[in-house]
Amino acid sequence: MAETIYQGNILYSTSYDELKVIPNGYILVKDGFIEDVCETLDEKHKRIEVVDYKDKLIIPAFSDLHIHAPQYPQRGIGMDCLLFDWLNNYTFPQESNFQNSDYARSIYAKLIRDLIANGTFQLSLFTTIHYGACDTLFRMLHEAGLYAYTGITNMDRNSTDYYVDTTKDSLEKTERFIQEHQYSKTVKPILTPRFAPTCTKELMLGLGELARKYDLGLQTHLVESRAEAAWAKELFPEYASDGEIYEKCGLLQGSGPKIFAHVIFPTDTEERILKEYSGIAVHCPDATSSITAGIMPLNEMHKKGVTIALGTDVGACHFMGVYHQVARAVQISKMKEFYEEGQKRIMLANAFYLATVNGASIFNRIGKLEKGYRFNALVIDNMLDEEYNTSLSDALERFCYSGDDRNIVARYLDGKLIDPEEVYQRLVNIRV
Ligand code: GUN
Ligand code: FE
Repeated sequence: MAETIYQGNILYSTSYDELKVIPNGYILVKDGFIEDVCETLDEKHKRIEVVDYKDKLIIPAFSDLHIHAPQYPQRGIGMDCLLFDWLNNYTFPQESNFQNSDYARSIYAKLIRDLIANGTFQLSLFTTIHYGACDTLFRMLHEAGLYAYTGITNMDRNSTDYYVDTTKDSLEKTERFIQEHQYSKTVKPILTPRFAPTCTKELMLGLGELARKYDLGLQTHLVESRAEAAWAKELFPEYASDGEIYEKCGLLQGSGPKIFAHVIFPTDTEERILKEYSGIAVHCPDATSSITAGIMPLNEMHKKGVTIALGTDVGACHFMGVYHQVARAVQISKMKEFYEEGQKRIMLANAFYLATVNGASIFNRIGKLEKGYRFNALVIDNMLDEEYNTSLSDALERFCYSGDDRNIVARYLDGKLIDPEEVYQRLVNIRV
């Protein structure tokens, strides 16, 4: 049995409001799981190897519950557009490149290297409509050992003529993908209708049947902008709002996670659905600031009992690290408080909780540094500053605002030290 003790400053969230800080503590890890967390070592620990991260922070790895894998090459580009122009002028042309599986292999290997470098070990990814590229991504995530959901992206209208499926093709590919991707313990298929405007009712109903038949979850974009919410209503006039389309077409019938990106303009219907089906609303603050119009009413939804996690929404976000989204969530909540009466900002501890505990809630025993949890963790260096007398929670805050992957000096996935470059070398050699 592999046993190791990690010594360092331990920080993780125990609740929305509470950040637990254990200065110079010890984490005992056995076979990938945390066996004990303590402030001092006793006699029975003496024979176990101790890895010394004394001057550093040990924190949980991050979860990115909304990222578009094929948009990795376009991050930071077209950021002056609003949603529809950005989709038509940048995103659909870029995603259509994934027809070419060699291109997919090259991009997805780099994406995963960058995700691991930035400490994102749990995630839910959008893809494209191309079977080969989606299969490549799934295999690479599996090979890397990441915890993930992904699926074929569905769209059968309102895209472009060079990047759209027929309803029949979209459903057939999706079912084949589900059937052929049951082999991984850490990566699972999920239904991925892009958003209501690019999916016909026939397609939605077909996906609803697959949700029931294979007991699947769903990821999509929901009430992302005023224009999007209005267009969805116009295209599906028989339903009260965007969220009801998924409910009435049967897409919420499976037991898998229900992940809704953005949720900037929720009506009572969206809030009811999120709660009734244990859905997760994913806040992507950089993307929201760049290409969409509005800021999620995060504090209000949290108070009403909606579960909220964080996402990057790359390529609508220019940074890979979820830790930057922790900082940005605080920043834009202050904007909302400043400009809108009755809104209240969130604190760093709140956002960190969303990025670690809530984000990992769709996976098993991940997100905290407590007994029984998987040791998916990061070691952070160079954020403590003697001249300023930085506290440990200051150091975490500073990392979220101004850190980058160079400050992550060790990464543990299921208790194993992983190196992004070594994983990359394995991925580029995968046979597809
Ligand atoms: N809505 C539909 N497609 C997309 C996308 O690719 N990104 C974002 N942010 N919103 C979308
Ligand atoms: Fe998105």
